[in-house]
Amino acid sequence: MKVLVIMGSPRKGNTYRAAQRIEDVMRSLGDVEFDYLMLRDVGLEPCRGCALCFEWGEERCPVRDDAPAVEEKMHDADGVIFASPVYGLNVTGLMKTFIDRFSYIFHRPRFFDKKALLLVTTGIVAEKDVLDYLDSVAGIWGFDVVSRAGLVTPPGITPRQAQENDQKLARAAREFFRALAEGRERRPGLRSVIIFHSQRASFDELADSAPADHAYWKEQGWLDPSARYYTSAPVNPLYDVVGRIVEWFVRRRIRRDLAAMR
Ligand SMILES: Cc1cc2nc3c(=O)[nH]c(=O)nc-3n(C[C@H](O)[C@H](O)[C@H](O)COP(=O)(O)O)c2cc1C
Repeated sequence: MKVLVIMGSPRKGNTYRAAQRIEDVMRSLGDVEFDYLMLRDVGLEPCRGCALCFEWGEERCPVRDDAPAVEEKMHDADGVIFASPVYGLNVTGLMKTFIDRFSYIFHRPRFFDKKALLLVTTGIVAEKDVLDYLDSVAGIWGFDVVSRAGLVTPPGITPRQAQENDQKLARAAREFFRALAEGRERRPGLRSVIIFHSQRASFDELADSAPADHAYWKEQGWLDPSARYYTSAPVNPLYDVVGRIVEWFVRRRIRRDLAAMR
């Protein structure tokens, strides 16, 4: 199995060492290949805000850099570890630039056959907020987030804290390895089903202003009313009903807004 670590720290410090610990545990369980993508070494320029990727497709992005190669690396992996220290109560600037540059994937999700592990280190606070943020990003991009590890790594860390961190890393590594080995398709939760239906309402109704999204959704077969989710995974019938009701309301609101603009 191939694991790609997307490293948001600008140095090989706490977060890098934590990823290496995950690698060691996973290697002790079986055959696994690790590739570290240090975002500091990748030429990802900040997003310029033109929104051409949303409207016309990512090929129209005016920034010519390593972004396509980075996306290719994610496609090549079976599992991705999104790793970032907490900086100013959020992910690092490197990680945020990475997320911004792939924002079109929020509209055109594509990683449904991949598992993700989230790894966050912090001096003292906000590891849960940052894990929750990365969870939303990876989840909407299509990843099945199977484990998360949030470590508190203050200067002068106590032996007890270090031991707790090590246990968290070992547990996350075992969960990740198991999920990758089993490769089971996840059943979507209510939130994911609601996101699917809300997006379908938007990208179907807004075909004129979001042609790339509309074309992608059509090509995937997601605009077909019989589609219940991005994948063929079984959807809880109650979630399906709730999702369709939400879709109806979103479509109605968009139609009213469009009519008011005419
Ligand atoms: C610029 C900067 C901002 C930081 N912001 C926070 C913060 O908001 N909250 C916090 O608890 N720790 C903060 N820290 C501490 C780091 O999150 C912590 O030391 C982390 O483990 C560093 O990871 P690294 O060794 O992989 O770079 C900050 C550190 C730096 C350098």
